[in-house]
Amino acid sequence: MAHFLSTSCSLTIASGSKLHSKQLYQGSMVIPSTFTLQTSKFPVKRLVLQGKRLQRSCTVHGTTLPISHEDKTQASSGSHKTSNEPSEPKRVMVIGGDGYCGWATALHLSNKNYEVAIVDNLVRRHFDHQLGLESLTPISSIHNRIRRWKSLTGKTIQLYIGDICDFEFLSETFKSFEPEAVVHFGEQRSAPYSMIDRSRAVFTQNNNVIGTLNVLFAIKEFKEECHLVKLGTMGEYGTPNIDIEEGYITITHNGRTDTLPYPKQASSFYHLSKVHDSNNIAFTCKAWGIRATDLNQGVVYGVRTDETEMHEELYNRFDYDGVFGTALNRFCVQAAVGHPLTVYGKGGQTRGYLDIRDTVQCVELAIANPAQRGEFRVFNQFTEQFSVNELARLVTKAGEKLGLNVQTISVPNPRVEAEEHYYNAKHTKLVELGLKPHLLSDSLLDSLLNFAIKFEDRVDTKQIMPSVSWRKIGVKPTTIPA
Ligand SMILES: NC(=O)c1ccc[n+]([C@@H]2O[C@H](COP(=O)([O-])OP(=O)(O)OC[C@H]3O[C@@H](n4cnc5c(N)ncnc54)[C@H](O)[C@@H]3O)[C@@H](O)[C@H]2O)c1
Repeated sequence: MAHFLSTSCSLTIASGSKLHSKQLYQGSMVIPSTFTLQTSKFPVKRLVLQGKRLQRSCTVHGTTLPISHEDKTQASSGSHKTSNEPSEPKRVMVIGGDGYCGWATALHLSNKNYEVAIVDNLVRRHFDHQLGLESLTPISSIHNRIRRWKSLTGKTIQLYIGDICDFEFLSETFKSFEPEAVVHFGEQRSAPYSMIDRSRAVFTQNNNVIGTLNVLFAIKEFKEECHLVKLGTMGEYGTPNIDIEEGYITITHNGRTDTLPYPKQASSFYHLSKVHDSNNIAFTCKAWGIRATDLNQGVVYGVRTDETEMHEELYNRFDYDGVFGTALNRFCVQAAVGHPLTVYGKGGQTRGYLDIRDTVQCVELAIANPAQRGEFRVFNQFTEQFSVNELARLVTKAGEKLGLNVQTISVPNPRVEAEEHYYNAKHTKLVELGLKPHLLSDSLLDSLLNFAIKFEDRVDTKQIMPSVSWRKIGVKPTTIPA
C-alpha cells in the first residue's frame, strides 16, 4: 500500500501500561494503519496533564506518567555521579526527548540528578510508519521507557506529549515545568526527508522554524533567565574552501575589521531550516537578552550510552535506512547483512563525527556552563572528521576481523554536494569546557558491528539504498511503495 502526505493526522497516546486515546482534537479520527502528516503542525491536542506542578486540568495538552508504588520499591540508589554533577538539581526540559539524541540525553541528565521533562509529539515514530521504516533496535513506547527508568533508578522523568508549534501547548508546559534550561532536539532532522517532495520541504521548515520561534517566545514570556541549548548542525556551514570557525569569523575588509557570523551554505531544506533557526536565535539574544547556545553538531554514531544499556526497554533507536540513517551506523548494518557499503559518488565528502556518548556529555557541559544573558554562543559539537571513503575503509577492516566479507560500491550521489573538497573545522570550545571525547576506535566499531549482527533479522534490505534525489524533488506528493 502506498503512503503519502495529506492534510490531517491523529495520534493514539499510551499512558502507563494501557493504550488509551485521550485525544479530543476536534474533527480528527484515529487511523490505526495509515499515517498522514499535516504540513503546518502536528495536531496532538487536548491531553490532560497529571503533573504535580499543574493545578488546573485540561489546560496543558500533554501527559505525565503516574508514579507507582511498585516503582518506588524497586528504585536503586545507583546514579553514576561525576564531578560535573550540579550542586543543586536543575530543571531541564528536553524537547524531542523521545528521539535518538534526545532520549539518550534525557536519561543521562536524569541520571546526573537534573530534574528532566521530555516534550515530544512523537512525530518521529510517525515518519517511520509513513515511510514503512523501523529502527534496527526494537524501541519501547515512551511511556514504557520512562516507567522502566523509574523502576530501575527511582528517578522520575516528566512527559508532555504535544507539538511545540502549538504555542498554547508549549506555554502551558513552560508554566507547568518552569525550566531553567531547555535542550531543543525537537525538529525534523533528516535532509533526505526534507527533499522528498514539496510538502515534506514545507513541513520541515514550518516544523523547525516555527517550533524554535515558539520556544524563543516562551522563554521571553515565561522564563526569561532560561538557557536555550539548541541543536544545530555542522551542515549549516557547508564545505567552504577555508577553515570553519566556531560560529564567528573575524574579517578585515577594505581596511576595517569586524567579527561576524560565519557564512552559512546549507545544502538541503532541512539544513536551511537550521540556518533560519540560528538567525532567529541570534536576533532574539540581541533584542530580548535571551541566553542561547547553538550546538552545531556533527554526524552522530553509536547507540549505547551508560543509561540506555541498563535495560532493553531503554534501548535507543538505530536508523540504518536511506532517509534517516547516518553514515557510520548505516555502514555497520550494511556490513553485518552482507550488503556492499554504499559510498555516494567519489566518497571524498568529509564531515565532523561524534559518538552518541559525547552528544550527551556536550549537552550536559553546555547546561552546566550557561551562556550569559544576551549571548548567542556557538560550539562546533564533533570530535573527529572523516571522509566517507575513510569510514568505509575502517568498517571494512573491522568487519574483516569479525570474519565478514565487506565490499564497497559507489552509487550515484542523490545529493548535490562537493565530493572532493577541503575541510577543516574547529572544535575546541567544548573540549575547553571539559569534554573527554570517545574517539572512534576498533572496539567501538567492533561493538557496533556486533550490535548490528545481533539484530540482523530485523534489517529490511529494501530500505538501504538511497531513494531521495535532490534534483528530482517536485511539487507532487511522492508515494512511498511498501
Ligand atoms: N542524529 C544526528 O546525527 C544529528 C546530527 C546533527 C544534528 N542533529 C540534530 O539533533 C536533533 C536531534 O536529532 P535526532 O537524531 O535525535 O532526531 P530524531 O528525529 O531521532 O528526534 C527528534 C525528536 O523530536 C520530536 N519532534 C520533532 N518535531 C517536533 C515538534 N514540532 N514538537 C515536539 N516534538 C517534535 C520527534 O518526535 C523526535 O522524537 C535535531 O535537531 C537534529 O537536527 C542530529
